[in-house]
Amino acid sequence: MTNEVRILLLEDSKSDVELLRLNLRSSALKLKLKDVQSEADFTTSLREWQPDLIISDYSLPAYDGRSALTLAKVLCPDTPFIFYSGTIGEEAAIESLKLGANDYVLKDKPRRLISAIQRALDDAEQKRRQRQSDEKIKAQANLLDLATDAIVVRDMDDRIVFWNSGAEKIYGLPRSEALGRKITALFGASAVSTFPDAKETTLREGQWQGEMEHVTQTGRRIEVMSRWSLVRNEHGHPHQILSINSDITDKKELERQFLRAQRLESVGTLASGIAHDLNNVLAPIMMASDALEGEQTKKDALEMVSLIKTSADRGSKIVKQLLTFVRGGDGTRSLIDVGFLAKEVAGVAQKTFPKNIATSFEIERGLQTVCADPTQLHQVLMNLCINARDAMPAGGKLRITAKSTPEGTVVVEVSDTGTGMPSDVLEKIFDPFFTTKEPGKGTGLGLSTTMGIVKSHGGKLTVESQLGVGTVFRMFLPVETQERRTTLSTHGRGEVVVVANEKIEARKMIGQVLSEHGFEVRTAHDSSAALGTLARYSGVAKILIADARMHTDSGQSLTKVAREIVPGIGVIAISTSFSAGAVEADAVIQEPLAANDLLRTVAEVRQIGENA
Ligand SMILES: Nc1ncnc2c1ncn2[C@@H]1O[C@H](COP(=O)(O)OP(=O)(O)OP(=O)(O)O)[C@@H](O)[C@H]1O
Ligand SMILES: [Mg+2]
Repeated sequence: MTNEVRILLLEDSKSDVELLRLNLRSSALKLKLKDVQSEADFTTSLREWQPDLIISDYSLPAYDGRSALTLAKVLCPDTPFIFYSGTIGEEAAIESLKLGANDYVLKDKPRRLISAIQRALDDAEQKRRQRQSDEKIKAQANLLDLATDAIVVRDMDDRIVFWNSGAEKIYGLPRSEALGRKITALFGASAVSTFPDAKETTLREGQWQGEMEHVTQTGRRIEVMSRWSLVRNEHGHPHQILSINSDITDKKELERQFLRAQRLESVGTLASGIAHDLNNVLAPIMMASDALEGEQTKKDALEMVSLIKTSADRGSKIVKQLLTFVRGGDGTRSLIDVGFLAKEVAGVAQKTFPKNIATSFEIERGLQTVCADPTQLHQVLMNLCINARDAMPAGGKLRITAKSTPEGTVVVEVSDTGTGMPSDVLEKIFDPFFTTKEPGKGTGLGLSTTMGIVKSHGGKLTVESQLGVGTVFRMFLPVETQERRTTLSTHGRGEVVVVANEKIEARKMIGQVLSEHGFEVRTAHDSSAALGTLARYSGVAKILIADARMHTDSGQSLTKVAREIVPGIGVIAISTSFSAGAVEADAVIQEPLAANDLLRTVAEVRQIGENA
C-alpha cells in the first residue's frame, strides 16, 4: 500500500504517544498519526480528519474507550478500531470485540500492534469490496426487475435461485414462493417434457432457445420464447442455468388470426371462382330446358324436362347462396317485413336444432317495414340463433320476437336460457375472431359480421347476459318511412366524384352512369393519379369510387389514404371479395357492376356525408 494511512490516536499519556510513534516507525506502512485527548477533539477529528484507523486507550481520565468506540461506530462505521491499553481484563476485551472493535493490544506487547493494524486495514478493505459488489449485485437485480421478461436462474439440480418481478407477473408466483422450488414442478407437463433435451443442449453447447407452452399459477396456458444459457463457476464447471422467457401468447394469437383470415380470403376467392364456373354450366341447361318445354308434347318427356329445370334452378340457387356467403350479400336492399324473416328463421331452428331446445316466436301484427338486404338479415338472425343453440348444450328455450317501438324502430329479440356470459367474455364478443369455442367449432366471426351488417343498415345491436340464466340480443332497425324514401334521391347535383380504376371499361361505365345522372366525374387510372386528382379537388370532391385492390406506393390502401388527405370524403370501394381496401370504405359495391346499385350506393354515401 503506497497511500498514507491516517491513524487517529486517543491517548492521554504523552509518553505513551511518543512510544507508539517510535514503535510504528518500524512499520512498512506510511503512517500519519494524530493524537487527541478529549471527547470533543476526538469527535471533531472523526468528522473532519476522517481517519483510516482508530487506536484508543481503554481507560482515560476524562473520557472512556468504550464510549469512543460506540461513537466511532456511529460516525464512521467502516473505520477499524483497535484498543491499545496497559490493562484490559479478559471480560472487557471480549465485550469490546462484541461492540465492534477489531482488535485489542496490550501496551506491554507493542510489536503486536503493527500486525494488528495491518490486519484491521486488510479486513476493512475486504469489507469495502464486499459492500461494493453487494451493491452492484443489488443494482443489477433491480435492473432485472425492470424487465418484463421472466428471468429465472436455477442451480444444476433445477432449484430456483433467482426469480425476477417479470417472472412474478408472468407466472403469478411471488419470489418468496418460487425460490428453492424445483423448476420442473412449475410450468406444466408440456414444458417439462421438453426440459431434458433443452438442458442437454445447454450443457453441451452453452445455450438453448425455443418456444414452449407454460402453465401459470392460475392455470392459464401461455406461449413463451425461452432462451437458456449455462453459467459456469470460477473453476469452469457448470454452476447454474439462466433462462429468459418472453410471453409471446398475444403475438402468436395475432399470427394465427392473420393466417385464418388469409385462409378465409382464399377460400372466398376459390368459392366465388367455382360459383362463377357453375353458373356458366347451369345457364345453358336452364335455357335449353326452357326451350325443350315448348317443343315437347309427350307427357313423360315434359316431366323429365321439368325435373331438369327444377334441379338446375336449385343448383343455381345454391350457387347464389354460396356467392352471398362469400361476398356477404349482393347488397340489394328492398323493403322487407322483418317479422316474416324472423318466422322463417324460427322455422329453421325448430326443424334443425336438437329436440331439447324449445323454439318459440312472437311477431307483432302490422310490423312496419325496413329497408334492408334480406340475405344479410337472414344471416344475422341465423348467427344469433346458432349462438343461442351452442349456449344451451343441455337444452333450454329459444325465443324470437319482433315488434315496433315508438321511436320508429323495429326491434328483433333473440333470447336463450343458456349459459350466459361472464363480463370479461361479454366485453369481447364483437371482436373479430373472439371465440370461446374449441378450435374448429367456431371462427369467432359470427358476431363481428352481425354487428357489421346491423351497423351498415343504420341499426343498433345490444346484448344483455346473466351467467347461468341466459342471454338476450336485441337488434334495432330504423323503419322505412315515406319521408326517408323520398329524400334518397339518386340524382346528382353536380357533385364531384373521383373514379379510380385501372380498368378502362370500369372507368367508362361508372363515368357514364354518373354523368348521366347529374354528377361531375373525374377519373384516374392509377393510385398516384387518384391522389393527384383528390388533392386538386379537395374541398370540392364529395365521393371517391375506387377499386378496393388499389394501393399507394407506401402499400396502404387507396381508400384509407384518400380519407386522410380529404377528410370527410365519402368512400366507396369496388370489390370482388373481402379485402382490406373494402374495410376502409363507407360502402362496398360488388362486381359485376350494376347501374342501379351504383347510383343507390352513391346516394346513400352522399346522405351519410350530409348528415354528418
Ligand atoms: N347466446 C350466447 N350465450 C352465451 N355465449 C354467447 C352467446 N352468443 C355468443 N356467445 C359468446 O360469444 C363468442 C363469440 O360469438 P361469435 O358468434 O362471434 O363466434 P362463435 O360463435 O364462437 O364462432 P362462429 O364464428 O362460428 O360464430 C362465443 O364464442 C361465445 O363465447
Ligand atoms: Mg357464432
